[in-house]
Amino acid sequence: MQAANTNYPHKIRSESEYNETYQRSVTDPRGFWAEIADHFHWHRKWDSVLDFNFDEPKIEWFKGAKLNITENCIDRWAKSHPDKVALLWEPNDPSESHRKITYAQLLQEVSNWAKVLKSRGIGKGDRVCLYMPMIPELAFAVLACARIGAIHSVIFGGFSPASIADRVKDASAKAIITADSVMRGAKKIALKDIIDSSLEDCTVEAVIVFNRNKDTVEMKEGRDFWYSELVERLDLTAIEPAEVMDSEDPLFILYTSGSTGKPKGVVHTCGGYMVYTNYSFLNVFQYEFDDVYFCTADIGWITGHSYILYGPLSAGATTLMFEGIPNYPSPSRFWEITDKFKVNQLYTAPTAIRSLMSCGLDQFKGTDLSSLKVLGTVGEPINKEAWEWYFKYVGKEQCPIVDTWWQTETGGILISNLAGITKHKSTYATKPLPGIRPALMNDKGHRHPLSQANLSKANTQKLQGNLVVEFPWPGMIRTVWGDHERCKQTYFSAYPGNYFTGDGCFKDTDQDYRITGRVDDVLNVSGHRIGTAEVENAINACENVIESAVIGYPHPIKGEGIYAYIICQGEVTQSAVNDKIKDIIGPIAKCDKVQLVSGLPKTRSGKIMRRILRKIASGEKSWGDASTLLNPEVVDEIWKNRVV
Ligand code: WT7
Repeated sequence: MQAANTNYPHKIRSESEYNETYQRSVTDPRGFWAEIADHFHWHRKWDSVLDFNFDEPKIEWFKGAKLNITENCIDRWAKSHPDKVALLWEPNDPSESHRKITYAQLLQEVSNWAKVLKSRGIGKGDRVCLYMPMIPELAFAVLACARIGAIHSVIFGGFSPASIADRVKDASAKAIITADSVMRGAKKIALKDIIDSSLEDCTVEAVIVFNRNKDTVEMKEGRDFWYSELVERLDLTAIEPAEVMDSEDPLFILYTSGSTGKPKGVVHTCGGYMVYTNYSFLNVFQYEFDDVYFCTADIGWITGHSYILYGPLSAGATTLMFEGIPNYPSPSRFWEITDKFKVNQLYTAPTAIRSLMSCGLDQFKGTDLSSLKVLGTVGEPINKEAWEWYFKYVGKEQCPIVDTWWQTETGGILISNLAGITKHKSTYATKPLPGIRPALMNDKGHRHPLSQANLSKANTQKLQGNLVVEFPWPGMIRTVWGDHERCKQTYFSAYPGNYFTGDGCFKDTDQDYRITGRVDDVLNVSGHRIGTAEVENAINACENVIESAVIGYPHPIKGEGIYAYIICQGEVTQSAVNDKIKDIIGPIAKCDKVQLVSGLPKTRSGKIMRRILRKIASGEKSWGDASTLLNPEVVDEIWKNRVV
């Protein structure tokens, strides 16, 4: 096994090195990525660095190479630094003990879980869904899947049984890994019961249950197994060998919302994803080998996959996992954890920052935060006030903030400053990482002529347009599980020859990018991505509802709130609507405002004019001319009765 290098030779260490590296990465992308990929442990090297065609699309990185990502994330560090802490874990309840898991222990645990999965007949290519609390066993189980070549699909703990069933069915999962329950703040969520209800509607061969809270749960004979009982029967002495995978074999599926009804299973593969999450982690956060890194995301989202698990572990980092929520038992919790573990890099979301901002400055009493070197933000545009508060009160004006723009589909961070290396700028994600070629498209569907040019004072106008990426990078989406055509339609059809992000963007005279948010019918509520069509489908399933339209509006803490306009016959209450949404999607998609209307503004071809509804939802009367609508009279009625 290739020795792990703790000096991180491919970490950029100055602004000029960034400029030089970026240039090289776009003039010789294959040579550039091959050099980085050389630092990993491969059973066999690639025949070709990159083959691609964005029309099909076909994207193949390191074709012909053989590897297992867990050997890169665990074995090589367990060998060189067995006693280094890989995972730190802080429980929901601060009076319960924290845990420290070294690389040697991580290897043993992942091996044990791998053996348990194999003992239930799970192997390479099988899909395994995970519905787990944020506990080390979730990390073990995810990595165990990767070790045996099973494709993991982690489902966020906030999804309802119906949403889980959709995902289990779509992936035809063979097994589910879950736990009895989880405490989030003071609230208990009975995970195993939720899994039982979701399985009324679909079948899996095995449900493996980890006992987190010592609850008594119902176990179905022949289907449900306690992890502790399965592992007890096995001989655990020898470490389970890693399955040798092809670079382009799927590593995981992660479902995310789009502008149409059904969530899409985004597929990432082994080799490219490993190289990209490692490279972006080291460079954006400027991680040094002895640092303690804390990402507050949930592993149910891509941020947790790439920047709690794979990125940090592939770099031999110490990564902290937190089971709880920011304001439990008090808004000081993140700061207490930071001091307790001497956290050096903290990575969180604007919505968490805004909610803590509203709790006053007493939360910092008795905390010191002097270990912090880097702050990160992700998930939605960060507003100036939140950025400044984060910089001043958390970073004490000493820490660069990395505003990291990326998506489930991109696998890793594409646009961000590099901490302390390139400049940060409030509300700007700033510059593309090496290897990333963003461009802006104008409304005629063409690349903006100045898209790649250096904007000078002579062409002072900020460029604005739809953000695309012109060239592949190793961490990008390969397909939508079971629906390659949908992958093509969603990402590669709007601007042929480019990957379309779905985001709007500005570029200023410093050549810095600022992401303005989604340009499609996707909402970003507290950093959670939710399709308007999904919410509308749930509302339309309510009794008495005839039609609905769901719109996002600016919300001081959540970023976007959900406003629903509903046409109904008879009575429909907001709580009935939200109960239905909770059942069909989960509590994260509940509506903040519900307005009953007699009609929805429609074009003559029958399309809902969302632009007008968006204006009304944000309290603006400037929707312009409505006279070409099929039913202009309805607009005044909606405005008069709007919910404020
Ligand atoms: C959407 C992707 C990336 C992991 C978490 C979300 C928005 C993400 C930023 C940022 C402005 C951002 C975009 C993107 N977004 N990061 N730094 N600044 N917007 O992943 O659930 O796939 O959502 O989140 O709109 O398209 P996701």
